[in-house]
Amino acid sequence: MIVFGAGGLTIQILDMLLGLHDETILVFSDKPTAKPKISEFLHVSNEIKDLETQLRQTDSKFIISHAGPQHREDSYNRLTSLGGTGLSLLSPKSDISQGAVISGDSVIILHDAIIEQMVTVGKGCLINCKVFIGHESTIGNFTEIAPGAILNGNVVVGERCFIGSGAVILPGVNLGDGCTVGAGAVVLSDVEPATTVIGVPAKKVIK
Ligand SMILES: CC(C)(COP(=O)(O)OP(=O)(O)OC[C@H]1O[C@@H](n2cnc3c(N)ncnc32)[C@H](O)[C@@H]1OP(=O)(O)O)[C@@H](O)C(=O)NCCC(=O)NCCS
Repeated sequence: MIVFGAGGLTIQILDMLLGLHDETILVFSDKPTAKPKISEFLHVSNEIKDLETQLRQTDSKFIISHAGPQHREDSYNRLTSLGGTGLSLLSPKSDISQGAVISGDSVIILHDAIIEQMVTVGKGCLINCKVFIGHESTIGNFTEIAPGAILNGNVVVGERCFIGSGAVILPGVNLGDGCTVGAGAVVLSDVEPATTVIGVPAKKVIK
């Protein structure tokens, strides 16, 4: 299996990776941010030939282990075009309702996240620790939700959004594709696509 990325997220999921006793794991990074400590536990490479060799093998599974919605989607497209198959990693310490639907691969859900009934989480999403996603909400592909964010019931989040740490999204709010919600923001109403909002109550950032 390939773990694609050798930064903070790979350290966050290290316990889960070390629990996969049956897997031969190659951590790949082509970024200078690779954390040297990871190589104390797992084999780390930045050689493209190692990545390609691993992906050519029949068991060519990968986990996208880095942040950034667009970057995660780009990595997903790169690895699937090389013949890889995305895997999801759902923490056994998260609380995912049986009625929730993880509708695609390459999803990461970290410890103490709560995903309620009838929530749908799209392909490639990264749901960090202590995130709460209330009933009947929908999270679009490659969206990332940072630690401690609270999405109340019936929230609709588009594709490739980023929701910062501790943000609160009120019930029924829709966030368009490509939105960014700043850390600690409280979002009271719908947000247009590709818009950044910050503050309490959240307001659009104009640059
Ligand atoms: C919203 C955010 C994406 C903006 O990033 P940015 O475009 O680089 O913005 P800047 O740092 O240039 O700040 C722009 C202005 O917004 C303010 N600002 C930035 N983030 C803010 C926030 N979350 N709440 C309130 N104000 C904020 C800054 O103070 C600055 O104000 P000024 O123009 O009066 O000086 C970012 O600040 C943020 O909140 N990121 C979330 C981080 C996070 O949760 N990471 C989780 C990792 S797991």
